[in-house]
Amino acid sequence: IGNLDREMHRPTFHFTPPANWMNDPNGMVYYAGEYHLFYQYHPDSTVWGPMHWGHAVSDDMLNWQHLPVALYPDELGTIFSGSVVVDWNNTSGLGSKDNPPMVALFTYHDVKGEQAGTLDFQTQGLAYSLDKGRTWTKYNQNPVMKNPGLKDYRDPKVSWYAPQQKWIMALAQGDHIGFHSSKNLIDWQEESTFGEKIGAHGGVWECPDLLEMTIASTGETKHVLLVSLVPGAPNGGSGTQYFVGDFDGSKFIVDPDFSERLAQQEALWLDYGTDNYAGVTFSDVPDADGRTLFMGWMSNWLYARDVPTKKWRGSMTLPRNLVLQETALGLQLFSKPVSELDNISQRVAEHNNVEVNSTTDLSTLLGQIEEAHRLKVTVKRQEASTLTFNYKNQSEQLSIRLDASAGTVTIDRAKSGATKFEAHFANPQVGVISPSLDAYSFDIIYDKASIELFVNNGELSMTALAFPSTPYSEITFSADGQALIEQISMDKIISQQVK
Ligand code: FRU
Repeated sequence: IGNLDREMHRPTFHFTPPANWMNDPNGMVYYAGEYHLFYQYHPDSTVWGPMHWGHAVSDDMLNWQHLPVALYPDELGTIFSGSVVVDWNNTSGLGSKDNPPMVALFTYHDVKGEQAGTLDFQTQGLAYSLDKGRTWTKYNQNPVMKNPGLKDYRDPKVSWYAPQQKWIMALAQGDHIGFHSSKNLIDWQEESTFGEKIGAHGGVWECPDLLEMTIASTGETKHVLLVSLVPGAPNGGSGTQYFVGDFDGSKFIVDPDFSERLAQQEALWLDYGTDNYAGVTFSDVPDADGRTLFMGWMSNWLYARDVPTKKWRGSMTLPRNLVLQETALGLQLFSKPVSELDNISQRVAEHNNVEVNSTTDLSTLLGQIEEAHRLKVTVKRQEASTLTFNYKNQSEQLSIRLDASAGTVTIDRAKSGATKFEAHFANPQVGVISPSLDAYSFDIIYDKASIELFVNNGELSMTALAFPSTPYSEITFSADGQALIEQISMDKIISQQVK
């Protein structure tokens, strides 16, 4: 596959399939020096259809090399979301200790069964690779998990639970998560269920991920459970909530503090923007790396099928490092763009101590606004209580407004460009941030058709697509009173090298 065409709206450094439909990231794993990304893929059309696993590899999660489709539908069904692990001890017996198998657990979706009105049409299948993911063999006794009669029974995310030397699978089961265990990745038993009565339940639960994480400040180990939900996200459609607690090899128990917060708000969200869904983390990131690496699908089931791109549909978010951090509000999951991004960034301007009052044209301050850039700003609020960034071209604009007293950030894309392809797209979206701080920092990453916003080093992240008729080329900053920009910098981001 040669260079991607630079079709209108095609991002320059976010992952997109060469052509046709993509949704969830699947099977993300680091092995033998390569990050693997598989993804829900319909190779025959730009709308969702019989799912395959597309495939790409990278050494930095930013420059990707496209590989042939890894998994095709077969007589058991089409290939829905799932995960890949490296079976280092060859517990499955499918490889050897010298050449540990990469093992994929995925959902088989049996369309005929669904059409016939059965409830057991989603089962879990296994496939393995002995050649660094280049070719995959389906296990000859699939499915490895039959369906107990649950209409929604999918998206297995597998991890190794070292204290008990066993594998744990988190599985989406309608309105809850099932935890299953196995010694060999083939024979599974259900350990417990979680979530029937806690968290947001506006729709079906999907794509869980159970993470072991260390609290940055105390070194204490916690478990965090990611759960995607559709519909029922805070700004409509699909979104990802999380729970903080402990996992003992069998059950996940939410922290009392966290439960208390859930008594006051429906859920805590990994990302308050509309366009970060079905995200999960990479398996087998080396311990020495110590990062929890995450990517999501940068779209929303409300309008994923309708967005105005032509040859392809769907892109991924930037890879992010998830960090569990204490805040004034309690333990919170922070998202930070990975540091690898620095390697494709070029500083074009930076300034300190710029006083602002009303509206300042940042383009004058920073020079030409590139179609792929990163803007970092730290603002001392002083007398101001709202801070607004406006991304503009000649006739369109997208605004980002922080209201310090309310503790909210609103992204408004009502006039951002093409919006009419779907009724909800133009609605404002609101995220939650610690209120009334003296200073706020903004990290805004723009790539032609998307904004990824990180406030206060990732305390709040908001990801939003936008389809301006030409990339935004001007940015203004407004404060409703005297404020001080302590630091501001602009990086140009160099295009993804697609191999
Ligand atoms: C999430 C999801 C998964 C499912 C896949 C199908 O976006 O609905 O639950 O496995 O997409 O493509």
